[in-house]
Amino acid sequence: MEIELICDRLWREYSSQNPSVKKIRALLTANGEEILNDHIAFRTINDPRVNIDILSGIFIKNGYSPKGEYHFKQKHLFARHFEHPSEPSAPKVFISELLLEELSGGVKKNMSIWLDSIYPKLNLAGDIIFAGNPGFIPSYEIYKSLRDESEYAGWLYVYGFRANHFTVSVDSLTKYNSIFKLNDLLKREGFRLNEAGGEIKGTPSDMLEQSSTMADIIPVSFMEGVYEIPACYYEFAKRYPDKNGNIYTGFLEKSADKIFESTNFYKKN
Ligand code: NI
Repeated sequence: MEIELICDRLWREYSSQNPSVKKIRALLTANGEEILNDHIAFRTINDPRVNIDILSGIFIKNGYSPKGEYHFKQKHLFARHFEHPSEPSAPKVFISELLLEELSGGVKKNMSIWLDSIYPKLNLAGDIIFAGNPGFIPSYEIYKSLRDESEYAGWLYVYGFRANHFTVSVDSLTKYNSIFKLNDLLKREGFRLNEAGGEIKGTPSDMLEQSSTMADIIPVSFMEGVYEIPACYYEFAKRYPDKNGNIYTGFLEKSADKIFESTNFYKKN
């Protein structure tokens, strides 16, 4: 499967589930912008059946190479990013995994029950990155208890394997070619931005500035009934050249740490 087809399939599911994503893309397109993706991100756990090595498999097969590694101590996460060396327009891929051994027995048990239940059905979707949460109906009580310890675990338990977010390359925009201008447009249009650590994460001297929306709140069917909870968000990234004039292609732990919080639970209005 070619990279473009992979991205299209991920985009279709992601954008149809998250109305803000479609609206923002339409808004930028209506302003004459052509959008390139800076990166696509996935979440998983460090179980050898579904860890970063497994999720990155389809990208490695398509010519991607592993690049930076990132540690998020407080969130008990590890992440790696991947780049396609010969196709610079191919989005980077950012995959994080929850370090289960660092979490309480309750989280470990619930995440194991979840994985054991969906694992036999994962392959039916063709590749794990498209699999979602096959045949699994989450419990709202368990979702809440996971969130108390790890918002990330709660999200994964409900949504499974899918694109967690796409990221607009702000460098590909002409009119809205700064994070500040883009954020301003989005706020005027009523979109809610992630304010954790400030609306703009990183600085030009860090060589990467990022912002993101707060995830769309969507209705989800739980065992106990339908509840409205956060799904996925849209991110925006502007990159700067290093001393040698090469555009920085990595990620910043401090910024990514706050961007993860775009899926934290919140109430609409
Ligand atoms: Ni991201």
